Amino acid sequence: MFVEPPIALTYDDVLLVPRRSRIASRRNVDTCSPFSRRIQVATPVVSANMDTVTEADMAIAMARLGGIGVIHRFMSLETEAQQVRKVKRSESIFIENPYALHPNNTVGDALKLMDEQGITGILVTDEHGLLEGILTSRDLLFQEEMHVRIREVMTPRERLITAPVGTDVETAKRLFAKHKIEKLPLVDEHGKLKGLVTSKDIYKRVLFPNASKDDRGRLRVAAAVGVVGDYLERAEELQAAGADALVIDIAHGHSENALRALNAIRGKLGDAVELVAGNVATAEGVHDLAAAGADAIKVGVGPGSICITRIVAGVGVPQLSAVVECAEAGDKAGVPIIADGGIQASGDITKAMAAGASTVMIGNLLAGTRESPGVTITRGGRKFKICRGMASLEAAVQRQHRDSMGQGLGEDLDSVVPEGVEAMVPFRGDVAEVITQLVGGLRSGMSYCDARTIPELRRNAQFVRMTEAGRRESTFHGVELV
Ligand code: XMP
Repeated sequence: MFVEPPIALTYDDVLLVPRRSRIASRRNVDTCSPFSRRIQVATPVVSANMDTVTEADMAIAMARLGGIGVIHRFMSLETEAQQVRKVKRSESIFIENPYALHPNNTVGDALKLMDEQGITGILVTDEHGLLEGILTSRDLLFQEEMHVRIREVMTPRERLITAPVGTDVETAKRLFAKHKIEKLPLVDEHGKLKGLVTSKDIYKRVLFPNASKDDRGRLRVAAAVGVVGDYLERAEELQAAGADALVIDIAHGHSENALRALNAIRGKLGDAVELVAGNVATAEGVHDLAAAGADAIKVGVGPGSICITRIVAGVGVPQLSAVVECAEAGDKAGVPIIADGGIQASGDITKAMAAGASTVMIGNLLAGTRESPGVTITRGGRKFKICRGMASLEAAVQRQHRDSMGQGLGEDLDSVVPEGVEAMVPFRGDVAEVITQLVGGLRSGMSYCDARTIPELRRNAQFVRMTEAGRRESTFHGVELV
């Protein structure tokens, strides 16, 4: 039976009404918000788990800027766990298990490890874990003989400055300044290597005061898993690698499959890791995932820039209405909502947060940055990067290619019905510049709405609906861009 359907709106259909504001400067607003039940972020932006958006470099940059990145799952589980480890090790005041080689290893071994792990120094320990020396890129500068043993080129133990386990940051800083060193190995009373402090990590703490960090000072990172195949084993490996949250990644999150996977992962891993589920677009979806124990729920069926689900399947809910409905259900369940997809400009972030989202997930706007995977392409003198839907044909072809390389991710291409496209997006430089603009816009929107905090923004939000003429008026018009 056909019933007159309700109208659902999206970001471009509405504007927020300005109100009398006490806020003198955009700097005076606080954008802190929960990513999940137990993880707060200073910057409520999450980079999407897409293979053209988030791998370790993007996740590191996002966490430094106060947000969080979700490593995509379209790689072998070993590679994904390795990506998580890269983020967790990238910056921590005290590195607990620094990379170490034996004095009998070769210069070639050291260079390989440095290259693989993106590190500039390796500690040298004997078979009992006793510190024997350090090898830095300076020691290897003009070293062309790959077979030379590390013991011949390293800085030996007797010339090293070390500190005892438990050394605090201030003492470490003094030692760095006094001895003009960059790496401080921590040893126990027997001279066994127990950790490492680097001057770079301490410097970054000053440089990125809002960074999202766990209670051990490591950058936070989330990682995606599917709902079939190796997903349980993958979830275990990712947790062991240090992932702060797992994102159960399925287009139709309000499905028996998703609920089964959520239960199975929770059963296996317990409460130690946050579980994000989705995607849904209804209150019922939020209710069911929350009841199954989700710690955050992604909302968005078809709003993404590269999505064609609504065209192909005829299914979806315009994103603003979906967020409003899901956020109300999320409030009842005590679960934060991630508004996923369809953010085209910073104003859309303000609208999403005002509608009740706790964070927004972004693909397209971040895919064009230096930190996203993939190379930069030049066309007609302009630079681009690729952004593609994970349900696109191109993504399926890539998965099949990996399968033929033995990574077990393949699918039958003949039966693929793409629900995404592959596209070029303008190169946008460093992700820091993009996030500065996006968060600057959110701060501005909050000050127009007299909101010092995200909950205040939601309380103060008064939306008006626009006509087509209103939309035309909202962007530049009657002028030629220079
Ligand atoms: P934006 O608009 O930020 O959206 O680029 C990113 C989000 O889009 C979703 N996504 C897809 N949706 N088919 C879809 O229907 C796809 O192939 C696809 N790939 C990504 C996803 O939720 C992402 O975070």
